[in-house]
Amino acid sequence: MTNELKEKFVNPENDVLRVVGGKPLNGKIKVRGAKNFVSKAMVAALLAPGKSVLKNVPEIRDVHVVSDLLRLHGVNVDVDGPEGTVTIDASHVELANVADVDTLSGSSRIPILFSGPLLHRLGEAFIPALGGCNIGGRPIDFHLETLRKLGANVDKEHSDGIHITAPNGLKGAKIHLPYPSVGATEQTLLAAVLAEGKTELSGAAIEPEIMDLVSVLQKMGAIISVDVDRTFRIEGVKELKGYTHTSLTDRIEAASWASAALATHGDIFVKGATQPEMMTFLNVFRKIGGEFDVTDKGIRFWHPGGDLKPVAIETDVHPGFMTDWQQPLVVALTQAKGLSIVHETVYENRFGFTKPLVQMGATVQLYRECLGSLPCRFQQRNYKHSAVIFGPTPLTGRDIDVPDLRGGFSHLIAALAAEGPSTVRGISLIDRGYADFRGKLAALGADFE
Ligand code: EPZ
Repeated sequence: MTNELKEKFVNPENDVLRVVGGKPLNGKIKVRGAKNFVSKAMVAALLAPGKSVLKNVPEIRDVHVVSDLLRLHGVNVDVDGPEGTVTIDASHVELANVADVDTLSGSSRIPILFSGPLLHRLGEAFIPALGGCNIGGRPIDFHLETLRKLGANVDKEHSDGIHITAPNGLKGAKIHLPYPSVGATEQTLLAAVLAEGKTELSGAAIEPEIMDLVSVLQKMGAIISVDVDRTFRIEGVKELKGYTHTSLTDRIEAASWASAALATHGDIFVKGATQPEMMTFLNVFRKIGGEFDVTDKGIRFWHPGGDLKPVAIETDVHPGFMTDWQQPLVVALTQAKGLSIVHETVYENRFGFTKPLVQMGATVQLYRECLGSLPCRFQQRNYKHSAVIFGPTPLTGRDIDVPDLRGGFSHLIAALAAEGPSTVRGISLIDRGYADFRGKLAALGADFE
């Protein structure tokens, strides 16, 4: 990361936001490409010895972490932040110095996806210890099992990372995921496209971001089909070429701003937001009493006045209600009249962020029981993964420490909805996934410094 970027993303002086809430957020903002797609598409560029161009890329820290890791492997990466274009030339790829790779330890979860492309290009890969949000155990057993099935040797002995080799190349295999993991599905796609022979991946995830990655891989020359039962079939090809692609919009960011409009009695036009990927969110938004209007340019979300209504929702893999939509929406639900229930079935520990909400005046009770009917891996386990929210309760500003990306943005929304001043610390975590959120808050008339 350049000094300028370090200043922007990790400067402690940029890390505190003082917010005076109680004012509706009104105005227009633009949301660019999806964080959870662009980072993977950048890794895909490693598969081809040529130039790839990715457009509509947001200026977020995760993009710089992936760029840095690519550069450490000898790849040329040019990030034009204001333009939103990343150009990657992977004509030359080399093994990175382990000590250099280690400096990126704990910065993101994307490095594990470098495994397949590096095995194809170099026969080996060193993956630093992973980071990402603290919202559950987040193991990588499915990733490693997939790589082993494709013929890789995985050595976890290195204290800070994983060394993976494939001296005889990767070979197609039959793989079944015990749970439709987004990352493990991407891992398999990125590793199988150049593996010898056919790969069948059943029990896969089919999030729109994954399907956009499939589009990128197809542009590069891959042969991938998907059956109605979430089975991907990949026919390995001998080589791939660079791509030019425009990212789909970040539906998590769009839903976060929509929730902010509800929680603050505001009216926000989210330029770039698209309906198909947000269908499930829009249904819930409407049931709560929020209004929206879909146009060619984006979606306008607003609070029409009157009482918001409570809902019962369960998070799930696509096409279910995304776990990443849950946290910002819970803040809006504190303002709905009655009892709302949220059953989190993707992560075992994604309600930690509700504690500061309660301190601000919200009524949120957490339960170990499954308060819903979806089959859930956390049943009879000791995780508080269901929440009951009773509202409306006025929120009062206070000091908050940001716990994770989505939880942090939710705290920001709560501070904006609350009466009085709040100090939100650790906001650089929010830069991981919300491009220029300070500029957007200013455009929406938020009172902060
Ligand atoms: C991706 O994480 C996203 N991150 C997450 O977004 C998102 O919440 C998640 O998918 C679900 O949609 C990125 O794309 C960078 P998973 P990922 O593998 O791929 C378990 C955000 O806020 N699991 O689908 O890491 C895991 O513990 C972030 O933008 C295993 O048990 O998620 C979890 O309970 C947060 N073993 C569940 O599967 C494995 O090997 C789903 O995880 C892998 C996963």
